[in-house]
Amino acid sequence: MYDFRPAPGTPKPPLYSDLLSAADALTRDESDAVANMANVAALLWEFLADVNWTGFYRASDNEPEELVLGPFMGRPACIRIPFAQGVCGAAAKTGKTQLVADVHAFPGHIACDGDTQSELVVPVIRDGRVIAVIDLDSPSKARFDEEDAAGIEALAAMLAGRI
Ligand code: SME
Repeated sequence: MYDFRPAPGTPKPPLYSDLLSAADALTRDESDAVANMANVAALLWEFLADVNWTGFYRASDNEPEELVLGPFMGRPACIRIPFAQGVCGAAAKTGKTQLVADVHAFPGHIACDGDTQSELVVPVIRDGRVIAVIDLDSPSKARFDEEDAAGIEALAAMLAGRI
């Protein structure tokens, strides 16, 4: 049995440190990318308060500049996202973290879940190429800040060779 749930109200620095350790423990000895993304999506869901979607989009193997839905927690979501569209597409195209306080003010935002108000998307980069993005959605405006971005960027860096 795995029980990684943090205590409610844990401050962000120790929360992300514990999240990274848990993700490391779960993925370190496993080479299957889907299994690792699935467990990390579930960990994000358990660790983070006030989120309605946590998961992955992967760079398509077949279509250039297109993301395909990966393992996630939350409501069923859009399956394919061109790099030219949405918050996830912007992260994939630029290779830069997208911290969006109000998704309705983001041009081209794709509303997969109407509850989403704010979003954090972090690219996973391997050998200089975006191979996936980690997408977090919240039903609250401005739910994510620079500490969340730094925590998820550390997670993305650790996962780059494991997914
Ligand atoms: N809102 C995202 C699409 C993915 S869902 O949030 C799961 C976007 O604009 O890229």
